[in-house]
Amino acid sequence: MKTPLTEIRNICCIGAGYVGGPTMAVIADRCPKIQVNVVDLNESRIAAWNDSDLSNLPIYEPGLDKIVQRARGRNLYFSTEVEPSIANADMVFISVNTPTKTRGLGSGQASDLRWVEACARQVAKCAQGHTIVVEKSTLPVRTAETIQAILQASQGPQSNGEPRSFVVLSNPEFLAEGTAIKDLETPDRVLIGGEDSHAIESLASIYNKWVPSEKILRTNLWSSELSKLTANAFLAQRISSINSVAALCELTGADVKEVAKAIGSDTRIGSKFLNSGPGFGGSCFQKDILNLVYLSRYFGLPEVADYWQNVVTLNTWQQDRIARLVVKNLFGTVTGKRLALFGFAFKANTNDTREAPAIRIAKDLLDEGAQLAIYDPKVESLQIASDLKLPQITPPSLKAGPSKAELSGEGTWWPCSKVEEAVSGADAVLILTEWSQFRGLNWDELAQLMRKPAWVFDTRGIVNKEEVTSAGLKIWRVGDGAT
Ligand code: NAD
Ligand code: UDX
Repeated sequence: MKTPLTEIRNICCIGAGYVGGPTMAVIADRCPKIQVNVVDLNESRIAAWNDSDLSNLPIYEPGLDKIVQRARGRNLYFSTEVEPSIANADMVFISVNTPTKTRGLGSGQASDLRWVEACARQVAKCAQGHTIVVEKSTLPVRTAETIQAILQASQGPQSNGEPRSFVVLSNPEFLAEGTAIKDLETPDRVLIGGEDSHAIESLASIYNKWVPSEKILRTNLWSSELSKLTANAFLAQRISSINSVAALCELTGADVKEVAKAIGSDTRIGSKFLNSGPGFGGSCFQKDILNLVYLSRYFGLPEVADYWQNVVTLNTWQQDRIARLVVKNLFGTVTGKRLALFGFAFKANTNDTREAPAIRIAKDLLDEGAQLAIYDPKVESLQIASDLKLPQITPPSLKAGPSKAELSGEGTWWPCSKVEEAVSGADAVLILTEWSQFRGLNWDELAQLMRKPAWVFDTRGIVNKEEVTSAGLKIWRVGDGAT
């Protein structure tokens, strides 16, 4: 029988996604004596994690492939064997998706906890001996209570008469996509919430293999759960704040980059997370703020709920504002016009498109009848089709004259494998993701391929304005009142 251990020997992580995969890869890499089993119901995702060609891993994260190569098959395993992996584990991480509910009570705001609950029930059914259950998913404050209730209902002896027991800890993950490995290897802090000091120290000792002790924070369960939602809300709030100022800059001749530098030099404000852009995307910010809004209302704090709701409202407004100003600058219509979209991922260095600003902006332009030529170095065309809920068309030939869709005014899109292909015949380029390759484009060459007058709409503020204008192109840059 497993007894409470200070030293954990076997970990099971349920959920092999953007958090479970990289987090467990780093734990396995840094703790070669611990066997780490990452399990998921999604067979194709697990097959991709096991692919001998590391370029086929299911998620793209700089540095992840090297770590997987070192640890996989040594003490890191990916499988669909959920039940035996739970049974063998001293510690089970729950790292499954917690999206916003789309129906029923709390629809559009509350987190959908059905996958978390399913995990708790599976742990309750399969765990043997003493098991520490760790909330790695981002969860509404007091979810640990639900997990504890499910586990306690099945606590008691297993079939061979051996006793079973559970402890629940909260250990939210603060990694950002695109920098996940760096964030995991040198975190600003690791947060562990719980009531059982033995279990807390067991988890702390894992992180302590590579994270300095002073960076491992211990709190009660509820502070830990609430800190995760609060961290994301504060970060997102900064983006909505700077985007609101960007709109003012555009009308007053100020430049948001200069304003950001001026205010960010105040150490109380700090310089990070002040880049104005097309609004925040990603699977976390919107979902977590909406969850905070829901919880605030649930606990009878409507003013607090309204305060946070406005962070999301401003973000949606920024995306719609950008689509509208593209149309306005292209003589009030984009129907039948080709527009090149540079970037579709919600930020650079990831293939993730969840809640990407590109989706809303592209949909707004498709509704206006635009023809979108989309280039992203990492996002697959099938993903774009699914996000836009519109299949791609065969790229229309420029020589063949106006296509059927152009004539009918229907919005269409097609994927491109390079920027030159995307700009051919286009009236405008929209830079939507800050991939580094978009910073050093040869605008003289690209301008020659476009239909004049042609525009560059730089929603990330990353191109060299002088190079664009000297190539004969018009430019709009987010928050730049001088363009
Ligand atoms: P994801 O959708 O990429 O991965 C979740 C995985 O869990 C999926 O592969 C799914 O098949 C699997 N799953 C669901 N139910 C299961 C079950 N019962 N048994 C086995 N597998 C199951 O999600 P993610 O981006 O990794 O996020 C996971 C959690 O971490 C969420 O709560 C999220 O808010 C939080 N988080 C995400 C990030 C991020 O950057 N993506 C950062 C910090 C925290
Ligand atoms: C975020 C949090 O940063 C991370 O701590 C948490 O664990 C998960 O959610 P992520 O969504 O992966 O991480 O990326 P992040 O770098 O935070 O960017 C989120 C969005 O904000 C992106 O669309 C990004 O382009 C945008 N952003 C970020 C800005 O528009 N301006 C900025 O200054 C920073």
